[in-house]
Amino acid sequence: MDVAKRIARLREEIEKHNHQYYVLDKPLIPDAEYDKLFRELQALEAQHPEVPTADSPTQRVGGKLLDAFTPVRHAVPMLSIRTETDISDGGAISFDARVRRELGEPDAIIEYACELKFDGLAVNLRYERGVLVQAATRGDGETGEDVTQNVRTIHCIPLHLHGCDAPVLEVRGEVYMSRRDFERYNEKQRALGLPTLVNPRNGAAGSIRQLDPALAARRPLSFFAYGLGDVQGWKLPATHSAVLDMLDRMGVPVSKERAVVQGAGGLVEFHRRIAAMRDSLPFDIDGVVYKVNSLALQAQLGFVTREPRWACAHKYPAEEQMTVVRGIDIQVGRTGKLTPVAKLEPVFVGGTTVSNATLHNEDETRRKDVRIGDTVIVRRAGDVIPEVVGVVLDPSTSLREVYPESNRRAQGERKRGEPFDLFRLLHGKCPVCGSAIVREEGEADWRCTGGLFCPAQRKQALLHFASRRAMDIEGLGDKLVEQLVDGGIVSTPADLYRLDLNTLANLERMGEKSALNLLAAIEHSKQPMLARFIYALGIRNVGEATAKDLARHFGQLKNLKDADEEQLQRIPDVGPVVAQSIVAFFGEKHNVDVIEDLLDEKRGGVTPKESAGEPVEELPLTGKTFVLTGTLGMSRDEAKARLEALGAKVAGSVSKKTDYVVAGTEAGSKLDKAQELNVTVLGEQDFMELLELK
Ligand code: IVH
Repeated sequence: MDVAKRIARLREEIEKHNHQYYVLDKPLIPDAEYDKLFRELQALEAQHPEVPTADSPTQRVGGKLLDAFTPVRHAVPMLSIRTETDISDGGAISFDARVRRELGEPDAIIEYACELKFDGLAVNLRYERGVLVQAATRGDGETGEDVTQNVRTIHCIPLHLHGCDAPVLEVRGEVYMSRRDFERYNEKQRALGLPTLVNPRNGAAGSIRQLDPALAARRPLSFFAYGLGDVQGWKLPATHSAVLDMLDRMGVPVSKERAVVQGAGGLVEFHRRIAAMRDSLPFDIDGVVYKVNSLALQAQLGFVTREPRWACAHKYPAEEQMTVVRGIDIQVGRTGKLTPVAKLEPVFVGGTTVSNATLHNEDETRRKDVRIGDTVIVRRAGDVIPEVVGVVLDPSTSLREVYPESNRRAQGERKRGEPFDLFRLLHGKCPVCGSAIVREEGEADWRCTGGLFCPAQRKQALLHFASRRAMDIEGLGDKLVEQLVDGGIVSTPADLYRLDLNTLANLERMGEKSALNLLAAIEHSKQPMLARFIYALGIRNVGEATAKDLARHFGQLKNLKDADEEQLQRIPDVGPVVAQSIVAFFGEKHNVDVIEDLLDEKRGGVTPKESAGEPVEELPLTGKTFVLTGTLGMSRDEAKARLEALGAKVAGSVSKKTDYVVAGTEAGSKLDKAQELNVTVLGEQDFMELLELK
């Protein structure tokens, strides 16, 4: 085959697969196959420089470095769009009313095309005879910048239109970065120790205006078309929605979240429907756009200055805003987790006024390098807790006028001073209760070890203590706990057992009857199973299942309290993390005091049903004590774990209480002792049979 033909075939084939992959998300061939085609094309183009390559998919990897962007005068100005200020339904209603008034048809029901308002950067794509020849930014609407090379790196933008050889057809739309691509890009950058993007929008805008196309090519961008610019020699359909359908057929990406609706009611419904799905969209939007669907009516309505009368944007509350950090506080959470929180100049974001935003943890705070006085971007999407997304360092837009006190550091000032150090900031102590703080290996969070003693944790701890699967005190809900703690009536679980009718009945929303019911429930909780009592203590990493294991293994609370990490880890399913949490918990005097108070006959009066009353699940070796000696076919630890899993206890030395001594090869003095005391000795064979490994 003639080389030029082969090149043309390859280009067509590769573009088809690009479309399948990037637009339709339905690849037809494996990546390796695609790579093969791509490499063949690259090789042929290199061998045949006489074949023009400007519109070849090989150019998508980014062309030569630019000094500056060339200005491009738009054949048809790129307009902006009027934004309805009323973010409630009123925005849609007043737009529709205005359209009908301006058309002189007050009673007509107008048909509208509804779309998403994408949050990225507007571009104009000029196709001549179906070939992408130029891409330009909006600029001031009259003149933009030539960003053709960068736009070619966006894989979902077709280099050729399918079935369109119009002399000129300009496609307009928005370049954006999907949330997933944004996260992935930042992850990669972080791994390489390179700067991350603040948000997808900045990512898209920054990449397109990047002078090094190779850098632009690394940024994962996407595109959605929403209209046309200059069109010559091509007959257009009668409606805007049909124009978008046409572009879709030509292979141009068009969002499927669009609708044709009738009248104001239809607009309102679309606005609400999209609001409900906003957070689950794969990309950011900042509102919806309504357009009169008929192109004839659009022409009739015309423009006011730079805005068409036939379109408007109806926004949602912005999910991100800029504000200034006034301070950094450390908050103590339910389980003692210490979270750095930025105290902000109040800002309206995501539909509410936000004055606190989480910085997540120490590492995140360091990575973002947030300092008091910095201008930051705050994000609040849906119901999630507001967070500080990043520091705004580039002083390109003059925000100093808006935030005169803002101290916007330049890129170079990035790492000045000491990095954020939570331990030093708190002098190693919980800011609420003064207990020691710890950050365990492999953990992202510092924690307060104060447990039940720490007031910040107290309310939640009390609720946990009283919860159904713990002490099961019915009627002790969060409103009541709030009143009891804030009123200084209850500060530890033991205080619950000292409540009297008079105190309770005087609380808000508490009659004598419910007070009596609560007292009965508290009284009823005084004899819990040991496992429930252990669970109720709220020891970190000790859930219900572990609490049961602990109760079974130790039989009595005292034994659990005295156990060291090594002893704890002998319990199957108790690893080093759990063991450490338990030891740390009992290492805090406050916790021990609360427990003593609870168990004191006169003060708390709680008597957990210790081993006797425990409904211990009978295991084959429950109640049997083993001693291991000599070398076995498995490690000592494993042998121990296997025996314990069957309910046995493994002791270190032989006594009259020993039921069996397991003797491996080279057994020593323990074997002699066993024989002396007449204890049954199991050889390795017997042992393996016992474990049912043979
Ligand atoms: S139409 C004549 N449709 O919003 C109307 N604009 O226009 C021209 N935008 O920066 C714009 N999504 O890039 C239109 N579905 C959409 C849009 C949209 C986002 C952007 C556009 C421009 C801004 C104001």
